[in-house]
Amino acid sequence: VNVNTEKGIFMETSLAIGIVGLGRLGRRHAENLATKVPGARLVAAASVVAEEREWAKARLGVSAYPDLETLLKDPAVEAVWLVTPTSLHAGQATEVLRAGKHLFCEKPLSLDAEPCDAVIDLAGRRPDLVAMVGFMRRFDTGYAEAKRIVAANELGKVFEIQCESHDPIDPEGFFVRFAPTSGGIFLDCCIHDIDLVLWMLEGVRPLRVKASGTCLLYPALAECGDVDTAAALLEFDNGALATFHVSRTSHRGYEASMAIHGETGAVEVGRGLSNLPLRREEGGGVRTQGQPDFFARFQEAFLLEAGVFVETVKAGRPSPLTLASAREATRIAVAMRRALQTGQTVEL
Ligand SMILES: NC(=O)c1ccc[n+]([C@@H]2O[C@H](COP(=O)([O-])OP(=O)(O)OC[C@H]3O[C@@H](n4cnc5c(N)ncnc54)[C@H](O)[C@@H]3O)[C@@H](O)[C@H]2O)c1
Repeated sequence: VNVNTEKGIFMETSLAIGIVGLGRLGRRHAENLATKVPGARLVAAASVVAEEREWAKARLGVSAYPDLETLLKDPAVEAVWLVTPTSLHAGQATEVLRAGKHLFCEKPLSLDAEPCDAVIDLAGRRPDLVAMVGFMRRFDTGYAEAKRIVAANELGKVFEIQCESHDPIDPEGFFVRFAPTSGGIFLDCCIHDIDLVLWMLEGVRPLRVKASGTCLLYPALAECGDVDTAAALLEFDNGALATFHVSRTSHRGYEASMAIHGETGAVEVGRGLSNLPLRREEGGGVRTQGQPDFFARFQEAFLLEAGVFVETVKAGRPSPLTLASAREATRIAVAMRRALQTGQTVEL
């Protein structure tokens, strides 16, 4: 019997996954799926970049293909993990479902709400396939506990949710190169907080958004209509408010945090986390070390997310994250971008 001893599971019963896109995040997902996710087995990878294909063959020992189309013809692949530029997600997601494979798609599902409809329609006609979008923060133990507390009504009526998502200053300017396909700061970054707020306030209807932003450190972002520092306000029909502060200009490193205020109390997630479990006091001051990037902050969440995907496929259950919620997050992020660009309040 072929046994994968590291994960302690039988190879025949593990889910065979093909990954598409081996860039900044794709490589991390690929390494996770190859060695760290119980019940998963990485069998194939696709990238348009030859060096990335060579890396996958040499490092992970998997078949490497130049594109999604060729990977989909590999009969060994049962599920596809899309980590390609966002502008390709909706089209590639429909190809995956049409080929009869389970789908994991990195966030956001699309740069506009309408292209999500074809994916939702197709997934509706294939209830035997799992289709999940990668909002991994929902699997972070802090955000998950906050959700439990809100859902159990332990804060009473929730009045306000304050969200912060900051990427560290990047002298390499990755975000400038990434901007043409990312949809801008609201679709690329703030979308995580939008998804979390809608999840926390389940059943409450978003009414309107306001937004503003500025290019402080990366003026080249303006060519794509993007900014490096932004704020948005989202109003709900029950009177609750959510605020969003997002940037690519953090001097203190990566930070994702949220404060939820209710009638009887408040919770805070992820504020002031240190990369090292060390707090240094000196000359009356205190020093901690900020986190370098989203991966350091959410590496456990990425693993839990992948594990839930595999379990969901094995159990034949529908995805815990619905495609409809991914569409709604995109719709609101697009409205924020319009509010930023026009300076007007956008009604939802
Ligand atoms: N969950 C998160 O917090 C998080 C963090 C970072 C990125 N992402 C998402 O992951 C996706 C990829 O981001 P990234 O930072 O890794 O980008 P990236 O530009 O570093 O990588 C993109 C990859 O896609 C490949 N590619 C491009 N066109 C392709 C095609 N037609 N067919 C196959 N492969 C193709 C490229 O070769 C590259 O390997 C984006 O949608 C982004 O929003 C999510």
